[in-house]
Amino acid sequence: MSTDTAALQAEILGQIAAADAPDALEAVRVAAMGKQGQVTQLLKTLGGMSPEERSVAGPAFNGLREAVAAALAAKKAALDEAALNAKLAAERQDMTLPVSLPPAGSVHPVSQVMDELAEIFADLGFAVATGPEIEDDWHNFTALNIPESHPARAMHDTFYIDGQPHLVLRTHTSPVQIRTMMAQQPPIRIIAPGRVYRSDSDATHTPMFHQIEGLVIDKGITLAHLRWTLETFIKAFFEVDDVALRFRPSYFPFTEPSVEVDVGYSSKTGKPAGAADVDKWLEVLGSGMVHPRVIAACGLDPNEWQGFAFGTGVDRLAMLKYGLTDLRAFFDGDIGWLRHHGFSAFDLPSISAGAAL
Ligand code: PHE
Repeated sequence: MSTDTAALQAEILGQIAAADAPDALEAVRVAAMGKQGQVTQLLKTLGGMSPEERSVAGPAFNGLREAVAAALAAKKAALDEAALNAKLAAERQDMTLPVSLPPAGSVHPVSQVMDELAEIFADLGFAVATGPEIEDDWHNFTALNIPESHPARAMHDTFYIDGQPHLVLRTHTSPVQIRTMMAQQPPIRIIAPGRVYRSDSDATHTPMFHQIEGLVIDKGITLAHLRWTLETFIKAFFEVDDVALRFRPSYFPFTEPSVEVDVGYSSKTGKPAGAADVDKWLEVLGSGMVHPRVIAACGLDPNEWQGFAFGTGVDRLAMLKYGLTDLRAFFDGDIGWLRHHGFSAFDLPSISAGAAL
């Protein structure tokens, strides 16, 4: 190999060694091995040489080309590996590291109260039933003895679905009464917790809120069964031994007679109380004996089957039990509020702790 060839090889290998990134290496490759590259140009000169010259220069030039190609390939492999290692290091996650903060979430008071209610009523033999939040007119109103043009429809501030006048956001959980009676034969004992919607908003009303419905259908059911059930539930829910209930005549199209129930309350203990300690009354639920027309609309014979139903606001029950004041805060998603008022995920309502009968 001539000194020139050796010098050129040393120069190019030096450039390859110095290239510290794929771009830089590519530039060196083009300058040496590209069409106009130094090595390519040198190889082209072989054509104009005499056979003797070529027999010396040929192996030297080819040796140069092979050495440069090998150095380029080795350097490229090294750069690729370094890039991969850098990426792996940057994206590294140590799964064994302990989390530095405890989870921030907690169980919302509404969820907690729904679980407490399900627990209490499960102990009384009630199953949990559900229905759709987008409900049709028939289940939400007509089957519940609220025919079209009935003024009770106006009472509900209904949200209708655009372009689908027979569909509404359910205004109460009572349509689940209908769905249950249509789907199963009595005897029936269910509660139906869930979201309901009315176009209303202030400190004690939000456009979406939660209700829980209760329905019992059997033979020989009377208002006395309703009263015992509500009393048992209120005592268990508020964790008190005695509670005064006031039944006021009321009106719901789907119950007859209808009664609104007030719970006697003691300002001293801040809890529901027995008659001796009551100094104010809180309205907590609507109820009554299921109207014969509702039973008939579901295909059952009202002479054979009777029952009672009740409906109450879960948010309101949560406010009363846990001393919360502004209903709107329930739906703000404020983590500070939730930390203060929420419940530990391990704080499960049960009959033996908390929601006790
Ligand atoms: N659905 C009624 C309401 O939302 C409550 C209710 C339910 C009343 C069941 C009687 C029986 O106001």
